[in-house]
Amino acid sequence: MTPPLDHRPVTEQPIFTPRDLPEDRNVDLALRPRTMDEFVGQERVVSNLRVFIRAARERGEPLDHILFSGLPGLGKTTLSWVIAREMGTEIKTTSGPALSRPKELAGILTNLDHGDLLFIDEIHRIPAVVEEYLYSAMEDFTLDIVLDQGPAARSIRIDLRRFTLAGATTREGQLSGPLRSRFGVHEKLEPYPPEDLEIILARSARKLGVVLDPRAAAHIAAHSRGTPRVANRFLKRLRDFAQIEAGNRISLEVARTGLARLGIDEFGLSAVDRRILATLVRAGGSPVGLKTIAVSVGEEEQTIEDVYEPWLIRQNLVLKTPRGRLPTPRACELVSEAGDDLPAGGLFGDA
Ligand SMILES: Nc1ncnc2c1ncn2[C@@H]1O[C@H](COP(=O)(O)OP(=O)(O)O)[C@@H](O)[C@H]1O
Ligand SMILES: [Mg+2]
Repeated sequence: MTPPLDHRPVTEQPIFTPRDLPEDRNVDLALRPRTMDEFVGQERVVSNLRVFIRAARERGEPLDHILFSGLPGLGKTTLSWVIAREMGTEIKTTSGPALSRPKELAGILTNLDHGDLLFIDEIHRIPAVVEEYLYSAMEDFTLDIVLDQGPAARSIRIDLRRFTLAGATTREGQLSGPLRSRFGVHEKLEPYPPEDLEIILARSARKLGVVLDPRAAAHIAAHSRGTPRVANRFLKRLRDFAQIEAGNRISLEVARTGLARLGIDEFGLSAVDRRILATLVRAGGSPVGLKTIAVSVGEEEQTIEDVYEPWLIRQNLVLKTPRGRLPTPRACELVSEAGDDLPAGGLFGDA
């Protein structure tokens, strides 16, 4: 099936969004590492996981429950698939928001076979009523279900097969204490250094059949915000420029002009970043709330908070205070330098 066409101007198309883009599905499957050996970087996490996998296999037991935390696009989903593959087990996937009622969870849990890996994405978004059922499921592999209502109500206990839960979260802090404590293993993924992103880019370029000059790889890596998903998305778009205009070779020049054409400016800021900064600067020194920023730039609050803000904070452009976000002096300089480049109009004017 052909993905729907994205009619937004190319500079408005989402490079940084954590959501799956239609075009990502096929290419991402091709680029996604399948084994621990192919998984680049995160050495501490990988070496821990290798030990846990080996030990569990030697004992002939399923793995302990694993919690992955970290910003979007760092490899939480990928690692869960790699683990299932290395354990030689099936993986079933769902997400916190999809588990809206206990019934949904019960349906999934009772269908798991011994050793299966259940991957729950965005596990911090499981509703509290559903989460409580997860406690006994994770701890004792049982599920207490209440049948009927009123005076006829009775509870039955269902035994589950011994499964492994792999949870992924971008918000470890939002996970309740009881849920967190039921994971035997916690692994936090950190942003990747540019060297690791260069390796990922080189591998992806080979898989996509495009020549990527090392200096171009370094340039793309430097603008990818420590995130493999962003690096791969840049690469896919630059491949288009290279294929049509540059003999299928991404030189430093193609990378530079290509990123500029994708709306990334000389400071590495995207259109959304520039709008966030402009919103903060226009507030004239009062802290701005997340909701206001989201409305003003036309992105979801969670995306602003998980994707744009961490990078802007690391770049010393945004300060997060208890009362809201403030621009740093550096941000104020950038915005005044950029002048007309920024959207005109009031807070809500730039749709
Ligand atoms: N360590 C890695 N090595 C190579 N590619 C990676 C790595 N981590 C992530 N990727 C790439 O980035 C994409 C996004 O990773 P994903 O596992 O979906 O992130 P998350 O689940 O944390 O949001 C993957 O499809 C894969 O192509
Ligand atoms: Mg994921």
